[in-house]
Amino acid sequence: MSEAKKTVFIKTYGCQMNVYDSDRMADVLAREGYRPVESPEGADLVVLNTCHIREKAAEKVYSEVGRLKPLKEHARKAGRTMQIAVAGCVAQAEGEEIVARAPIVDAVIGPQSYHRLLAVLARAAQGQSAIDTDFPDEDKFDHLPKIGGNGTAAAGQNGPVSAFLTVQEGCDKFCTFCVVPYTRGAEASRPVEQIVSEAERHIARGAREIMLLGQNVNAYHGAGLDGGDWPLARLLARLSDIPDLERLRYTTSHPRDMSDDLIAAHRDLPRLMPYLHLPVQSGSDRILAAMNRQHSADDYRRLVERLRQARPDLALSGDFIVGFPGESDTDFDETMRLVADIGYAQAYSFKYSPRPGTPAADAADQVPDPVKAERLQRLQELLQAQQTAFNAAMHGRTMDVLLEKPGRRPGQLVGRSPWLQAVHVDAPADIIGTIVPVRIETIGANSLFGSLTGPAAARSGQASDRDAIGAIA
Ligand code: 5AD
Ligand code: SF4
Repeated sequence: MSEAKKTVFIKTYGCQMNVYDSDRMADVLAREGYRPVESPEGADLVVLNTCHIREKAAEKVYSEVGRLKPLKEHARKAGRTMQIAVAGCVAQAEGEEIVARAPIVDAVIGPQSYHRLLAVLARAAQGQSAIDTDFPDEDKFDHLPKIGGNGTAAAGQNGPVSAFLTVQEGCDKFCTFCVVPYTRGAEASRPVEQIVSEAERHIARGAREIMLLGQNVNAYHGAGLDGGDWPLARLLARLSDIPDLERLRYTTSHPRDMSDDLIAAHRDLPRLMPYLHLPVQSGSDRILAAMNRQHSADDYRRLVERLRQARPDLALSGDFIVGFPGESDTDFDETMRLVADIGYAQAYSFKYSPRPGTPAADAADQVPDPVKAERLQRLQELLQAQQTAFNAAMHGRTMDVLLEKPGRRPGQLVGRSPWLQAVHVDAPADIIGTIVPVRIETIGANSLFGSLTGPAAARSGQASDRDAIGAIA
């Protein structure tokens, strides 16, 4: 391998789609010989791939840029340059404002134009304007290097056992609290052929699981192999046919787009894992309407019932917002009631945070912070209790675990259960990337601990378990 000329430190905030985007930016930069490094000290380029969804996103970026100032100064004194680029959703939302407030930022690039990152950096190096927050006509995916291809950041290496693959971007739902339709733009789906070939590249590099990503992934409708538009269910069925692709997942879904064929896919595709992130946000119909969610709490209850009929062991995860403008105690009680009715395996919950430019930010009846804090605490206690109960029910059961990487202790590996729980197990490193039966013996706060059973245990020289082979139903 030739010696790389320059180094880049990429810091990623926010969701899995940003993780995917950061990897792709690393690939683009590798074309110019940039090698990723683990810290900003001494780097030639720092990319902050930002998130704008909640809290003081822009403020966080400005303080991070402030921390980079001495490093940039140090580089200048040493006769080198350190370029700073702000990418992602804050870049999209703030645009020129970023350079106006933080002149040490050299380049600003939105999520739809990062295939043009090298050109933007070149303009910056010449002292020209380097702000690209367009929604270009061309498809950025057509212009990005292929995963693991020659000259990319990860060329010649094995990839992750569980790989992210963005299939859909943007959102047309316009929930009144959310910035995504503004920062990521209108819904757009990648063609099936492009996705299948990217999935095959991941598999060739050692992936056994693919997590399909999209801001509203179940609204996916990409050009199919037969010329027509394919919904997500058909894409999943096609991906299921790839040899060696053992597991499929997708996130994040909107209840309105949970179509009959997608529900049926949970029944018909054994490789589609029994775990679904299905945000509901609130249990109050009044608040759901004000959020423009386009469904009621009972619609959601009925939907979950149908999903569980299709796949009885389906575990659910969700997102919740407390303290949306106008939320009363009664509205909040409805959210608690919905959570109690559904029973979540895992969930994320947030205090409502007004996002500039979104309709709800201007509502007069904002909820005071102490009320939001108290509601959030009560909701999180309930969700945590449900998660603990879900995990505790795994004790003594044997489940299929896809081993992903070495654990923290030597001799230990960590993998995932079908329900996305992290599972730690003593096992030899050469079985990373395989699915093995593991009997769960200890339930931790955030993960499970178990031991190998069956042939894998015999191979690794451990006591094999006679009565616990096979996955649970
Ligand atoms: N305030 C609080 N939470 C929000 N989310 C999105 N926008 C906001 C906001 N303005 C949450 C939603 C969404 C998750 C990704 O972030 O719950 O599903
Ligand atoms: Fe935001 Fe999701 Fe609503 Fe789209 S569906 S506007 S991404 S919360």
